[in-house]
Amino acid sequence: MLNKVTSVSFSGLTTIKIDVEVNIADKGLPSFDIVGLPNKAVAESRERVRTALVNSNLNFPLRRITVNLAPGDVPKYGAFYDLPIAVGILSEIKGFPIPQGSVFFGELSLDGSLRHTKGALLAALFARENGLESIFVPEQSANEASVVRGIKVFPVRDLSQIMGYFNSDLEILPTVYQPEPTEKSEVADFDMSEIVGQEQAKRALEIAAAGGHNVLMIGSPGSGKTMLARALPGIMPLLSEEESLEVTKIYSSAGNIPPGGSLLVVRPFRSPHHIISQAGLVGGGTHPQPGEISLAHRGILFLDEFNEFPRAVIEALRQPMEDGKLTIARSLERVTYPSRFILVAAANPCPCGYLGDESKECVCTKREILRYRKKLSGPILDRIDLHVDVPVVNIQKLAGCFGDTLKKESSRDIRERIILARNIQQERFTHEEIHTNSEMKNRQIGKYVTLEPDSRALLMEAARTFQLSARAYLKVIKLARTIADLEQVSLVKAGHIAEALQYRPGVME
Ligand SMILES: Nc1ncnc2c1ncn2[C@@H]1O[C@H](COP(=O)(O)OP(=O)(O)OP(=O)(O)O)[C@@H](O)[C@H]1O
Ligand SMILES: [Mg+2]
Repeated sequence: MLNKVTSVSFSGLTTIKIDVEVNIADKGLPSFDIVGLPNKAVAESRERVRTALVNSNLNFPLRRITVNLAPGDVPKYGAFYDLPIAVGILSEIKGFPIPQGSVFFGELSLDGSLRHTKGALLAALFARENGLESIFVPEQSANEASVVRGIKVFPVRDLSQIMGYFNSDLEILPTVYQPEPTEKSEVADFDMSEIVGQEQAKRALEIAAAGGHNVLMIGSPGSGKTMLARALPGIMPLLSEEESLEVTKIYSSAGNIPPGGSLLVVRPFRSPHHIISQAGLVGGGTHPQPGEISLAHRGILFLDEFNEFPRAVIEALRQPMEDGKLTIARSLERVTYPSRFILVAAANPCPCGYLGDESKECVCTKREILRYRKKLSGPILDRIDLHVDVPVVNIQKLAGCFGDTLKKESSRDIRERIILARNIQQERFTHEEIHTNSEMKNRQIGKYVTLEPDSRALLMEAARTFQLSARAYLKVIKLARTIADLEQVSLVKAGHIAEALQYRPGVME
């Protein structure tokens, strides 16, 4: 007899329907085969299903079992075919019908219980988009799947429970979505009020957070660069509903949602170490997985000790930084992951770290400095809108400021301003696909940025004097737009352009 169970297959963030056909033949020697381009994890499903059935006291049939994952020419990855295969076999031996409007999805443990499985949100979205009624997922993945409204999400604890459900002895109640608490007290390691001085760097981070601009901080060891970057999540607004779903899909696909977890509300902050590989940073693998740039989507990618990253790894950022997405092509599949992040990079000015420092003398030769600077490619620097110096703070000032944090502006105060500036942008881009000023293309700059005559004259003069590239010229305009938004002013004034110009490398040196 042939049974058909509906499941899914993922290629990046795209989901397609897979029919899990289970045939149990009366004739032939006992065997258990899975066909339909299974990878190793799928093929090993045989052992998990067999043992889980036996350990759940549900007899495993000693007959010829063939499982076909159709369509047969699409490669299958992952361990989540365990549940549909087990249900297909149980339906045959226990004689219950399988609901055809349901998706089955989940990895089995050898004891018959279901484990938290990555991709539950994507599977549930697929079910809704294709007009299916329900999805059966592991209990610990049910909250993640229940984000999707309009379908029933059945949480399955183990095989005995689902058996009972189909025999009508047991009821399984659909999961009701429990949002994560949105109280964001401890999202950052530091509060901005704990950082003494560094007003220019704090201002740059505020502008970056408001308009989605990239930042490079250069300064001596111990000047507070890492501290500043780690305080940044505290001034970022929460994700909007639409952004939250975008980001959670990527995390679901990468298996980065904890058991019982659901929609992400806090913006991602990723800080990979410089030993990261290119595939780790931008994504890759034979069955392509998202890299750090996609896990940082709609959030922050912090590259500390920027000069220490291998040049090839940094160069790989060029195209995704420009396009906000990255396509990874493999012979069998081609996947696109979004990667719209704020790059925050920190570096020392030279190998010894003290070039330009008032307190300590730099011992590097010119050659060493040149070689060090060369590691940062021009095109990458050109993509960074805000370049700031982070000088060492005076120790006396630092000592005098302990316990004085109440007087300074806290991350919460700064965040309020940023939220207002982001609201202006949201309204501005209602009919566009973008969210922030930094994402504007030429057409949008022409449409949404009005420069006062003074501002235009100042910008033209600066472009001539500092020989700004076309990209740099447009970046100054976008940055000035954000600065004006922080002030809630609709026209871009000369003061805004002047401040934006300060953050260009070479302009203020
Ligand atoms: N401006 C500051 N205000 C308060 N504390 C500071 C400041 N600057 C540095 N510190 C203290 O010094 C520590 C080290 O600073 P941090 O790690 O941010 O330096 P860094 O600039 O990243 O140095 P490196 O170039 O060596 O990585 C911080 O954790 C903090 O305790
Ligand atoms: Mg540091």
